[in-house]
Amino acid sequence: MNRYLTGCVAAVALVAMVATPAFAEIVEVSTPTSSLILDAKKGKKLRHVYYGAKISDKDTYDQLKSGVGAALDAYPAYGMTTTSETAVAATHADGNMTLDLVVDGVSKTRRDGAELTTVKLRDTYYPFYVDVNYRTYDGEDVIETWTEISHGEKGEVTLTQFASGYLPVRYGDVWLSHLYGTNHNEGHLETEPLTHGMKVIKNKDGVRNSHTAHSEVMISLDGEPAENSGRVIGAALCYSGNYKLRFDTDHTDYHHFFAGINEENSAYKIKKGDVFATPELALSYSHEGLSGVSRNFHRWARKHKIAHGDVPRKVLLNSWEGVYFDIDEKGMNSMMADIADLGGELFVMDDGWFGVKYPRDNSKTSLGDWTVDTRKLPSGIQGLIDTAKSKGIEFGIWIEPEMTNSRSELFEQHPEYVIVPSNRKPVYGRGGTQLVLDMANPKVQDLVFTVVDTLMTNYPEIDYIKWDANMAVRNHGSQYLSSDRQSHLYIDYHKGLAKALDRIRAKYPDVTIQACASGGGRANYGVMPWFDEFWVSDNTDALQRVFLQWGDSYFFPPTTMASHISASPNHQTQRRIPMKYRIDVAMSGRLGMEMQPSEMIEQEKDMCRKAIEQYKTLVRPVLIDGDIYRLQSPYNGKGVASLMYVSPAKDKAVYYWWKTESFRNQQLPRVTMAGLDPDRLYKVTELNSIDVKPLSYEGKVFSGKYLMDNGLEMPQNYNVAKPDKNEWGSRVLYLEAQ
Ligand code: DGJ
Repeated sequence: MNRYLTGCVAAVALVAMVATPAFAEIVEVSTPTSSLILDAKKGKKLRHVYYGAKISDKDTYDQLKSGVGAALDAYPAYGMTTTSETAVAATHADGNMTLDLVVDGVSKTRRDGAELTTVKLRDTYYPFYVDVNYRTYDGEDVIETWTEISHGEKGEVTLTQFASGYLPVRYGDVWLSHLYGTNHNEGHLETEPLTHGMKVIKNKDGVRNSHTAHSEVMISLDGEPAENSGRVIGAALCYSGNYKLRFDTDHTDYHHFFAGINEENSAYKIKKGDVFATPELALSYSHEGLSGVSRNFHRWARKHKIAHGDVPRKVLLNSWEGVYFDIDEKGMNSMMADIADLGGELFVMDDGWFGVKYPRDNSKTSLGDWTVDTRKLPSGIQGLIDTAKSKGIEFGIWIEPEMTNSRSELFEQHPEYVIVPSNRKPVYGRGGTQLVLDMANPKVQDLVFTVVDTLMTNYPEIDYIKWDANMAVRNHGSQYLSSDRQSHLYIDYHKGLAKALDRIRAKYPDVTIQACASGGGRANYGVMPWFDEFWVSDNTDALQRVFLQWGDSYFFPPTTMASHISASPNHQTQRRIPMKYRIDVAMSGRLGMEMQPSEMIEQEKDMCRKAIEQYKTLVRPVLIDGDIYRLQSPYNGKGVASLMYVSPAKDKAVYYWWKTESFRNQQLPRVTMAGLDPDRLYKVTELNSIDVKPLSYEGKVFSGKYLMDNGLEMPQNYNVAKPDKNEWGSRVLYLEAQ
């Protein structure tokens, strides 16, 4: 079964179900360990009563209501309460700028293991409606909430604010954990107390939305965030475009949290009968700390939000850092032979393979001209596929279908397809010539579908597509949208992208697709239902990856994180890192390689060959559905980072330990493990071992209790012969219950 279908189409299918009229004053939306309670009295405001640990049968709703104090709107609307932050605002057809929303009804529907609760709100005067939706999946500790806004007014209504959801969090020692960064440094974790005033996290790139701040956050309710204890609420806005997360800590004793599409320069007009659906905001609660919420998100995402979320990913070699634009048939064939020899399963030919009139020799030309350059590849793509087959591996290819260059046949033929405002010359992106195609235009949506369709029709054996996107919407202007709809561009771009991706997945449900966007610009649950994985960063430096992948692991499972062994010195940081450390880091995500194997010495090849084998047989089966326990954060400055994945049956685990700095006689903490069965015995085996003598506990058996109470000492450095000694240290241990 195609995971993408369960993730994406289920939302539509649910609404089509016969609804059970279940109007009740109190609405409970619950997951196995959490409850959300709303007061939904007909004709009154929809009130938020409670969100947190599952309420017990012993607590009545009346008790709960009496215990929470202030009555808070569950979806605050602008107009009649103008002094505080709101979730929704609109200008009616007659110019009135107020909303006064009350409950009109509640329904609950069930389908395919999911429950949808809809609270219908209506304005007290205008025919203006908001459906507030909550979806849960059986067994998953995540609540998705979003709204559908419509009206029956005579003229157009302009929406000026449209959050997906709102959550009041009681004022206290509340801390925020979020991810920030930039190109080559995506996914950095930052934690801070929520203090009075506004904290706004937002994106305005237009195309990519996770290079800088991420649209996912953790809210720790019991003081400074802890990984494995304390109450935490996680929130992930499932959107690929501009977003805004707001925390307003005011005098009301609440931190008011709003999340949704960024409304800046995006006022949206809707006609009678149109439905404006906001993206889902996924909420998860855990009293097992940050890692507890991560486990909830990972489980939910694998089943409902990631293409093929439960299918093992192939070990691959990507050509980019090996040859960059220097693509030719001989080179590709030799890389394919090398990765096959190392035990890999897939080869991905990156940028540089296309362009006839304008050969793609650098970033200045050719995007849009997706025809193979036979001067570089005389046997064409089929020739490469045949070579891959002969080596027993699969073949994948790079495209950047949402983009063009001013020096391309596509642009020469269709200048009307690019995003550019009237009366202005465009500002160019990468290479000084790149332009973004206008995904709001249905013809461009067709074009993007056709790029993939043509490749897949001509070469049905293509197994993997790396889908890149390397420019922001810099020039605000759609040549397709009418002058009174220019403010729809940011939103319609992503609606258009979704339409193209829907068509691609309907026809090609099985192909693996990576979301790459100048590195980690598309790590979000807006696109993941169509994509199998994302490229964490164009920075492949293993030490920096410890920090970046740590951040991403808050919300995304390891199988989605493309994590490649690259050359030393690293191309981005120039840091020299031994192969053992590079392998030990790359093995904590979807393992791949991003280098020229022909430049590796035999000893390195042997190490990679062994690592790939152990990854396939031991590590990958744990990562595919393992539960994450982050143990020692690289951000805490203790000189070491450590985390582990434990299989749901707790019979297997993989433990990672990476030194993050090196000083003489440095005292590093001993890291205790977590998530194991205290009563079971686990045999410890080191993977990727290079020491002259095995670890003192190699092959020994310990109880889960001992490993969790005491942990195991890690030698600070590798125990290798003198010429190979270095300042690095890392370990990967495989634990198997006896
Ligand atoms: C940006 C990506 O992040 C890289 O991995 C690579 O695919 C280049 N684009 C190719 O131009």
